[in-house]
Amino acid sequence: MHLLIPAAGSGKRMGSDRNKLLLPLHGRPILAWTLLSAAAADQITWIGIISQPVDQPAFQVLLQDLSLSKPVVLVDGGSTRQESVERGLQALPADAHHVLIHDGARCLATPDLLNRCATSLLSDGAALIAAIPVKDTIKVVNAEGWIDHTPDRSQLWAAQTPQGFTVAQLKACHERARIQGWEVTDDAALLERCQLPVKIVPGEETNLKVTTPSDLAIAAWILQTRFQE
Ligand code: C5P
Repeated sequence: MHLLIPAAGSGKRMGSDRNKLLLPLHGRPILAWTLLSAAAADQITWIGIISQPVDQPAFQVLLQDLSLSKPVVLVDGGSTRQESVERGLQALPADAHHVLIHDGARCLATPDLLNRCATSLLSDGAALIAAIPVKDTIKVVNAEGWIDHTPDRSQLWAAQTPQGFTVAQLKACHERARIQGWEVTDDAALLERCQLPVKIVPGEETNLKVTTPSDLAIAAWILQTRFQE
């Protein structure tokens, strides 16, 4: 199974002037934890890290430190996550028929979750995303700050990554999005726009996306707890 890791973002919401994935977390850069999990997932055989050219020297140093036994390729990213993934898809080897997309910022996803997504994708070929039921009541709010409505919570799931697809289908959806000018924040949304089915694989509560300084503190605590077990 080929894995693409979008890692070409910035540190804006983290309040950092560099790529947040290079910030230290429990003794290693954030991205190192994502890579260690991918390395430990035996279903993953190839890793593409989508990155900004400016970050690539630091990513190379990180890769030297980790010395992973799987092939790892650095791919130039774009100005949005969507564009970065599209570039990653173009860089996949010709023999890649299925792909998992997993955000570098979701550094706490376990090898088990990556393996479960890969196995599910290979067994029936259906597009999938890891997700968990939402715990909060969600409000839809208008531009003036007033509640528009409250969706039925029993139908709401929080999307995570990994998200898995056949390469041909995801490439076709990205191409259509570019032509139509669709802008989305995850890959499943492109399949939804194309009216293609996407199934849910149970995600993990600890699979948070490290976005703000408080996420970093929570992630550090989770890793510390895992190491004590
Ligand atoms: O900014 P956010 O955390 O939502 O980004 C999700 C993931 O997409 C991150 O791992 C980030 O590095 C990646 N990304 C990217 N290219 C961009 C913007 C974000 O690969 N232009």
